Amino acid sequence: MLEFDPHVLEEKAVPPPKEFSKRAHVKSLEEYRQMYDRAARDPEAFWGEQAKMLDWFEPPKRVLDWDLPHAKWFAGGKLNVAYNCLDRHLAKRGNKPALIWEAEDGAKVEFTYAELHQRVCRFANALKSLGVQPGDCVAIYMPMIPELPIAMLACARIGAVHSVVFGGFSSTALADRIADAKSKILLTADGGYRRGKIVPLKDTADAALKNCPTIEKSVVVRRTGGKVAWQEGRDLWWHDLEKAASKDSPAAPFDSEQPLYILYTSGTTGKPKGVLHTSAGYLLQCMWSMRLVFDLREDDVYWCTADIGWVTGHSYIVYGPLANGVTMVMYEGAPDQPGKDRFWEIVERYKVTIFYSSATAVRAFMAWGTDWINKHDISSLRLLGTVGEPINPAAWKWYAEAIGKHRCPIVDTWWQTETGSIMISPLPGATPAKPGSATLPLPGIAAKVVNLQGQPVAPGETGYLVIEKPWPSMLRTIYGDDERFRRDYWERIPGVYFAGDAAQCDKDGYIWVLGRVDDVIKVAGHRLSSMEIESVLVSHVSVAEAAVVARPDEIKGEAIVCFVTLRSGQTASGELRAALMEHVSVTIGSIARPADVRFCDLLPKTRSGKIMRRLLRELAHKGGISGDTTTLEDMAVIERLAQSQGRDDE
Ligand code: WTA
Repeated sequence: MLEFDPHVLEEKAVPPPKEFSKRAHVKSLEEYRQMYDRAARDPEAFWGEQAKMLDWFEPPKRVLDWDLPHAKWFAGGKLNVAYNCLDRHLAKRGNKPALIWEAEDGAKVEFTYAELHQRVCRFANALKSLGVQPGDCVAIYMPMIPELPIAMLACARIGAVHSVVFGGFSSTALADRIADAKSKILLTADGGYRRGKIVPLKDTADAALKNCPTIEKSVVVRRTGGKVAWQEGRDLWWHDLEKAASKDSPAAPFDSEQPLYILYTSGTTGKPKGVLHTSAGYLLQCMWSMRLVFDLREDDVYWCTADIGWVTGHSYIVYGPLANGVTMVMYEGAPDQPGKDRFWEIVERYKVTIFYSSATAVRAFMAWGTDWINKHDISSLRLLGTVGEPINPAAWKWYAEAIGKHRCPIVDTWWQTETGSIMISPLPGATPAKPGSATLPLPGIAAKVVNLQGQPVAPGETGYLVIEKPWPSMLRTIYGDDERFRRDYWERIPGVYFAGDAAQCDKDGYIWVLGRVDDVIKVAGHRLSSMEIESVLVSHVSVAEAAVVARPDEIKGEAIVCFVTLRSGQTASGELRAALMEHVSVTIGSIARPADVRFCDLLPKTRSGKIMRRLLRELAHKGGISGDTTTLEDMAVIERLAQSQGRDDE
């Protein structure tokens, strides 16, 4: 199962810049270690103490009830998530900018904490007027506009559960997610802008709603002003609802474990899983990790470039930043619109101090060249971050030099949709970085690299990344499939959380995450399942069988390569290849578009009929096969596959 190249952990440690450490909240590795040890000795006392950073209507009676795999954090406590993100800042930070939004066409809108609070209160009442009750699920399918965080916070305010579906997903993907969560309301927009073009979100949403009997109302934000189809009785304009709603919305108290959101992510099977997060533990750990990892200060201007449709946007655009009362930037569009310096223009314009992005973005900037950067004064930056996929040492070093000017530490943050918040990361003023390593677990996080028996592997050996103790922002279950929750995460290595990543630990205890072990593919940090793509391929009339693997990609980290066998009577052709790529893109979303489709007579299988993905992966990478092939049923297949490599039609 563990087929990663032996990793050479040769990178030399880069100490935090002295000037940074001097002012940092945690100033030295020693200080970090003391904190880590204190948390490890008594995790409940540690988390109980941290929980004081939230505002409670009723304080919790207990810190943790743990009945593996089910955790309840802060039982007996009552709070309101939106109150913690907005209301409690009003006295001190009412006039502080909370959200500076920039449209792709350059328009700007700024919301102070008081203004954001008002918009959220009104929309919370609007949702209530549609009959939304605590516990009801609201689907959100929106572009990166301010109404998206407003919608999420309005749900949180009234105890409704949001399910945000990334705007790049197709109507089928949206319909599946609406059906699984039994969403009652859909919040969408007439369209969004991407590279100057209109993305017709409402058309896609309408196509999805043909198969969504649970949806009662569809609320539409007017973003583009373009003409859209309208279903009377079902479709409502957001601005009409908001205008009619009262601005008074007292924040009601909810239990610590009140469900906050469902977010779908890909796993081993073709069916996406609805990761369920609840209120207090999730919010606490987002807030706490953000303070520590980004070394937050009151005057920071923080910018996370992720899309809110993914977990990074949930935790580090919406909940973490707002709970901390920071000023943040949110940008609607593409990084190369109108020029490849758009990001640096934004950094300069708003004097961004903290910049949190992905390894894919860093590699793209690197390919575009430093001229784009040097046109701008980006000296306001003091800290850089990355997330979502391993960052190769060369990209890390380029980031440190070209953007960070060796002044800004880099936090390479490892975490997952399931973990809810950052788990492994340097503390920027304390932890010497090693390019390519997420370094050390945060205090309170029992991350280890182990073998299948759960024993730690030796330094430099590849093992599985696990978390040995529950943590407050952990997923509570897979919505509607508790059995899968148990099986996927808690039974692979009994008693511990199985992250699904291969990793190594070096002699200094630094963790190096190598990649997924479960056929999850990360394209530009977006998580996709090979099984899901395979089942889409075999739904095409021409396809008999399909196997999907990843191959390394210089910019996007990984790219999708499909091997397909055709039904009898079908012939391979360039047109069919293009049609299959389009089929995947239309059925799942453009993020899943394959980089390559290769036709073959048979797929390589073991005697028991399992597709030998390792061989296909090797073929996709290198075009040759090495290693043990003795269980192959038909060696000739491999030869034929190797021959078909690179050719257009077979
Ligand atoms: C990968 C994204 C290496 C990993 C927040 C994980 C990383 C998956 C890093 C989760 C990192 C995330 N270094 N790999 N710093 N951060 N990953 O759910 O494989 O979209 O399991 O959450 O991304 O992806 P997800």
